Amino acid sequence: MPGTAGAMPGPPLAAAALLALLVPAAARSPGAAGCEVPPGGRFDCGPERLLSRAGCEARGCCYEPAGPGPGPGSGPGPPWCFFPRGYRSYRAENLTATASGYTAGLRRVAASFLPGEVGSLRLDVAMETPARLRFTLRDPARQRYEVPLATPRVSGRAASTLYGVQVNQDPFGLVVYRQRGGQVLLNTTVAPLFFADQFLQISTSLPSHFISGLGEHLTPLVLDTAWTRVTLWNRDMAPVPQVNLYGSHPFYLGMEDGGSAHGVFLLNSNAMDVLLQPSPALTWRTTGGILDFYVFLGPDPKSVVRQYLDVIGFPFMPPYWGLGFHLCRWGYSSTDITRQVVANMTAARFPLDVQWNDLDYMDAKRDFTFNEKSFKDYPEMVRDFHRSGLSPGFVPRQDPGISSSGPPGTYKPYDEGLKRGVFIRNATGQPLIGKVWPGPTAFPDFTNPETHEWWHDMVKDFHDQVPFDGMWIDMNEPSNFVEGSQDGCPNNSLEQPPYVPGVFGGRLRAGTICASSQQYLSSHYNLHSLYGLTEAIASHDALLRVRGKRPFVISRSTFAGHGRYAGHWTGDVSSDWEQLYYSVPEVLLFNLFGVPLVGADICGFVGDTSEELCVRWTQLGAFYPFMRNHNDHGTRPQEPYAFNPAAQAAMRNALRLRYSLLPFLYTLFHRAHSAGETVARPLFLEFPKDPNTWAVDRQLMWGGGLLITPVLEAGKTKVSGYFPAGTWYSLAGDSTIHSKGQWILLPAPLDTINVHVRAGHILPLQEPAFSTAESRKKGMALVVALTPDGFARGDLFWDDGESWQTFEKGDYTEILFLATHGAVLSQLLRVGAHLDGVLLEAVTVLGVTSPPRQVLANGALVGDFSYRSDTQVLRVPVSLPMWEQFVITWS
Ligand code: NOJ
Repeated sequence: MPGTAGAMPGPPLAAAALLALLVPAAARSPGAAGCEVPPGGRFDCGPERLLSRAGCEARGCCYEPAGPGPGPGSGPGPPWCFFPRGYRSYRAENLTATASGYTAGLRRVAASFLPGEVGSLRLDVAMETPARLRFTLRDPARQRYEVPLATPRVSGRAASTLYGVQVNQDPFGLVVYRQRGGQVLLNTTVAPLFFADQFLQISTSLPSHFISGLGEHLTPLVLDTAWTRVTLWNRDMAPVPQVNLYGSHPFYLGMEDGGSAHGVFLLNSNAMDVLLQPSPALTWRTTGGILDFYVFLGPDPKSVVRQYLDVIGFPFMPPYWGLGFHLCRWGYSSTDITRQVVANMTAARFPLDVQWNDLDYMDAKRDFTFNEKSFKDYPEMVRDFHRSGLSPGFVPRQDPGISSSGPPGTYKPYDEGLKRGVFIRNATGQPLIGKVWPGPTAFPDFTNPETHEWWHDMVKDFHDQVPFDGMWIDMNEPSNFVEGSQDGCPNNSLEQPPYVPGVFGGRLRAGTICASSQQYLSSHYNLHSLYGLTEAIASHDALLRVRGKRPFVISRSTFAGHGRYAGHWTGDVSSDWEQLYYSVPEVLLFNLFGVPLVGADICGFVGDTSEELCVRWTQLGAFYPFMRNHNDHGTRPQEPYAFNPAAQAAMRNALRLRYSLLPFLYTLFHRAHSAGETVARPLFLEFPKDPNTWAVDRQLMWGGGLLITPVLEAGKTKVSGYFPAGTWYSLAGDSTIHSKGQWILLPAPLDTINVHVRAGHILPLQEPAFSTAESRKKGMALVVALTPDGFARGDLFWDDGESWQTFEKGDYTEILFLATHGAVLSQLLRVGAHLDGVLLEAVTVLGVTSPPRQVLANGALVGDFSYRSDTQVLRVPVSLPMWEQFVITWS
């Protein structure tokens, strides 16, 4: 077995029962010899400040000015001051077996340069499942903050595992490798471990440059390992590259040679930097909490995602109407205008499920109020929308910030909140007052159970007046228009930590509240990035209690585990082509993060859109799992009806396409909810063995069966897409691609979005209508995409679309569709009543190689089938009850 720090472990021991080994101290040669580290593998020895040569060498580090920057934090190049090989920090001792794995003590053996260094640590390695390993590093002498996320409790140790673990003794390091093949996935011996009160750092080698995740940022699907710093600290920030945005997801998925994948999740909510460097390697650098890692062994990337979701929770099941089209803008300044918008949509024959109002509806921009002048008939308007059947859903927007400046007795949410002690407190124990839309505001502390009760009561009071259907929770990073608070922030180590990650604005309090303010569970310093998640949980629970139906919550701020409760929109994106592109990787990444209900503001939010951009964005947006057109105030109108007839027609097509695919989309959400799958999916999840797919982020898939190739550039009427090896049919059935795994140039006139069905899949469709309430009753259709040997399968999940936990209670219908040997049939796996009355009206079979002479549906001749030998498409009109099994044959 290898003995030197940083070396790869050899092949796993034959006696693999002993999975963890203490590897003895490496012989270390200090001085120049230890400094022979290739530039791409140098780890910064001066993370918290710039060091001169003397300062660097005083730390026992190597100094070599090279490249543009002195460190990965501040420049795109190798650090000038870096650790020599074998730099000592902790030594592992007393490795012993436990019921779940191993434990060891870690003792600091060399002085460190950071305040609050913890001298002794405890390492726990838990072999939780065959593919999931957890290891934690804690201070055994002092309880530190840990993220209050309920993760699986596992007692015992998995009998056989995909991973092996080695513990390097001195310097301490952990190596995790695949049992089969020995591929090292994690090797923390590459750089020293730091565990100080406000500075915890651990580095690892990476098996490849293909690393995805670590959101929320404006990035491609695959992160750049050439000296990239990724900062996590939730922030109200219009998306731009290289800046911490609204959410934190300290999880990455890495691809390995051969197509295996693994994932790593650091369960830590403190402000952190994650540094990527070319060797390739990754450094986690966080400012508090503990080091609590999960490693997922896949071995395929879909399994990695599911294993991650096993820990953070499977996504919630959205109501069916939530998958319809949502329309919003800041600036619908009255009920008259809002009603007019809906009327215009109807007149222009666009589907619309959910009309939204931004803060325009509020009285003085305060939550749970409405403007008695311009919105005086607000409750009637919402009831009218419900009655019209066109817009069953209505979603108003809420801030977390509660207006605090009115005289006592004039604003119940604040008065009650004060009485019930629900607000975050400042250093003097008073509610911290910041400033958001209504002016001075207090911030509810959603880590306090009482706050959930209060929030529920406010939601209920408001719902009793205005019967809204969902909640749009905005500004919940939380955003604050003054730094920290109206009275500033105290001067203490939480406000000025020894190391400040690369947060936009340079200070933790920038754009938010004081880090040292106090919440029920801990300091805001620890809990900040959980603010949106905790508000989402409170909103989800309140809606469930108030409406008694499946909650629909869309939140700007997110954290790991968010998808269990709510969806996400990607914030204040600009109306430009670059942001149109970035929305694809962002939607894909949020699916990897377990938040499948995600979308960007269609046509862009900030700035004026253009007709062409808005058409292309609507086409792509028809394939966002969450589809909403939302616009800033004062910019050019961008409702679909605001454009020329040709543009409108193109948008109408896109919307009709989406509505026709809703049964398929809904079924995908069911698979996400019940089995931890993704809805919008990067190609590499389906084709991990084809490395050409790994970085594809200008296309997306829905499930495993539909490939969408949008136009993301101005002035283009052709688009190039990657088609993994196999047969792909255009959804319309007019063309077929037999790909060897290649890029293909597709025609893409402005009225077209390219959508291809993968051979082997059956998609359930439904005739589109102007709302889901209507479309759910229409005739269904199947698109059957045969493999060359005539096989395909698919499924449909169906329920009433809005009741709570239909799957859990068994109140649903599930149908399996199979095609083989010239037949397609349905198999009812479970039958609820909800499909009653819905007929299967058309079956389109793609890839029928010879002309059929006869088609039978349940044994009866179908006279009016059609077949085209040029496209090899068989179309069978039928009228069969979906709630009964059927067989259609052709010969
Ligand atoms: C910020 C949100 O991101 C945006 O969508 C909204 O329109 C404004 N706040 C005003 O409420």
